[in-house]
Amino acid sequence: MSDQTLSNLLQENRRFEPPADLAADANVKEEAYARSDADREAFWAEQAERLDWDQKWDRVLDWDNPPFAKWFVGGRINAAYNCVDRHVLAGRGDKVAIHWVGEPANDTRTITYADLLGMVSQAANTLTDLGVQKGDRVAIYLPMIPEVVVAMLACARIGAPHTVVFGGFSADALANRVADCEAKVIITADGGYRRGAVSALKPAVDEAVAKAAELGQRVDKVLVVRRTGQEVDWDDSRDVWWHDSVEQASTEHDCEFFDSEHPLYVMYTSGTTGKPKGILHTTGGYLVGTSYTHWAVFDLKADTDVYWCTADVGWVTGHSYMVYGPLSNAVTQVVYEGTPDSPHKGRWWEIIQDYGVTIFYTAPTAIRTFMKWGSDIPAKFDLSSVRVLGSVGEPINPEAYVWYRETIGGSRVPVVDTWWQTETGQIMISPLPGVTHGKPGSAMRPLPGVGAEVVNDDGEPVPNGSGGFLVLTKPWPAMLRTLWGDDERFKETYWARFADQGFYFAGDGAKKDDDGDLWLLGRVDDVMNVSGHRLSTTEIESALVSHPKVAEAAVVGAADEMTGQAVCAFVILRESALEGGEAAPDELIEELRKHVQKEIGAIAKPRQIMIVPELPKTRSGKIMRRLLKDVAEHREVGDVTTLADSTVMDLIKKKEGAGA
Ligand code: WT7
Repeated sequence: MSDQTLSNLLQENRRFEPPADLAADANVKEEAYARSDADREAFWAEQAERLDWDQKWDRVLDWDNPPFAKWFVGGRINAAYNCVDRHVLAGRGDKVAIHWVGEPANDTRTITYADLLGMVSQAANTLTDLGVQKGDRVAIYLPMIPEVVVAMLACARIGAPHTVVFGGFSADALANRVADCEAKVIITADGGYRRGAVSALKPAVDEAVAKAAELGQRVDKVLVVRRTGQEVDWDDSRDVWWHDSVEQASTEHDCEFFDSEHPLYVMYTSGTTGKPKGILHTTGGYLVGTSYTHWAVFDLKADTDVYWCTADVGWVTGHSYMVYGPLSNAVTQVVYEGTPDSPHKGRWWEIIQDYGVTIFYTAPTAIRTFMKWGSDIPAKFDLSSVRVLGSVGEPINPEAYVWYRETIGGSRVPVVDTWWQTETGQIMISPLPGVTHGKPGSAMRPLPGVGAEVVNDDGEPVPNGSGGFLVLTKPWPAMLRTLWGDDERFKETYWARFADQGFYFAGDGAKKDDDGDLWLLGRVDDVMNVSGHRLSTTEIESALVSHPKVAEAAVVGAADEMTGQAVCAFVILRESALEGGEAAPDELIEELRKHVQKEIGAIAKPRQIMIVPELPKTRSGKIMRRLLKDVAEHREVGDVTTLADSTVMDLIKKKEGAGA
């Protein structure tokens, strides 16, 4: 990376110190960094005391056979017991665990910890009746209804690893996952609500069961929640209604405790090849990692906070920061079923107002969408309860960070930009809201107990002010243990690149600023090389979004005869910029190119900018740059099946055809 680019990157000099009252009463103070550095295992052992163990461990970490870690060796624990039973036993049974908000107006449920214990026990009894035994895998394909939390915890309770498949995924995707982890039971619903309409789930399951059979996996039972009441096909020998089974079962269930390394779940995520990777998480370490980080990063005060993470439970964020982290910490949380614009674009802010949400955790893509819709929408709601804001999933560009802080946080609330991955299980790099002087766009430092570095090609740490590869230098409790059924791919994907140093290769680029704070630059596969200069897609996107007329931008490196790669940008304009029609696109495009040049340098000036109505996104909100690259390189557009909306590419191609 050129010195020029780097110095421009590091121009962001706004700083936000922690609010004084939050700092004074913070769960985690500065001293935790030095203490954890001095003895990392002792630090994690101390965090493990947050949980109830049936039997304590004899050894904190077994790293004798890297990269295969074992944490809290010899310990015995049950994740569901820690998320539910122990809170009831401690007299908190009447505390609300979940304020569930359905998408249709006035469709709400309030579930206390005592209620949850009864429901989880019932589901555990039913799963056992259906033949599920310890170690068997159960697939869960449900909308965001309370039963999804109940189903996950019931699996955990009987030691049956779950694999939750996002409800927006296709029957094929479900079948592949069911077959890969050999699940014999699927838990689903007739359908769910999305954008005011009913969408079916059961037909996809029927199809997936047939496809899985072709792949050699027989599904014995399908447990079906009635959510919408729509018509479903029924196979009496296989299908079981939740209300006929779970809701009739005993609310008593004695739970067994499992080895600390007993598998808790498998979560599939896409890799660089076509076949998704089954990330395996186990019980003790995962629960320690998620419980501690949820408490530390959000400065959780379980007695008074109302927490809301907007992620779908079909992703790791839903697992770690909607189910296991928050419930192990006995929070009261909001779970919302629907989309942010149903029935109106202020729905989320209305929920914050109605439930007095104090901690709010969402993704930059959502934040930028709200920016596009305009600040007047959140301004109509009372958001004064909010005291910590979190961001996750991709680098947050400084403009979005500042908008989030000002508009949702009333210019007083700290923003924590949390870097982690499906593989890491827990947040790894993040500010601490009571300690860190936040910089917009920076995830700052590894958390206490976590080791991260930015290294060059040879695995040597880069000096401050330089960029390189992000690596994790020390094992951490919630780390993935392997890829389901594929130890070799696990070693190859994460541990081969820096095998000499024993570092975990995260696949992300990062830079250290002059203070040594970390700035994530996106996947290294998205890093471009233009005339021998490394440029981050994120960095250019951030520059574009800082222009007042731009709502959202995606950048790809397209093959270029002269420069190796060239910068191609796809831009969505803000509604205000569109007023008065789509006048003078050429002038506007030139204005945007100059703006990027001004922000980063001539090298980053896009060769081409296309004004588009939408960007191709996966259902988790990630922009599929691969498809944009196809457009930029004038190729046939590749596989669009994982897009949330597969018509988006048609709109973009039409634009290209029109020469925009
Ligand atoms: C990749 C992991 C972590 C749960 C959701 C995504 C990117 C994630 C950040 C952040 C910059 C981020 C990275 C990472 N990422 N959070 N705060 N700043 N980049 O989980 O699907 O496993 O994706 O998301 O590129 O490698 P995932």
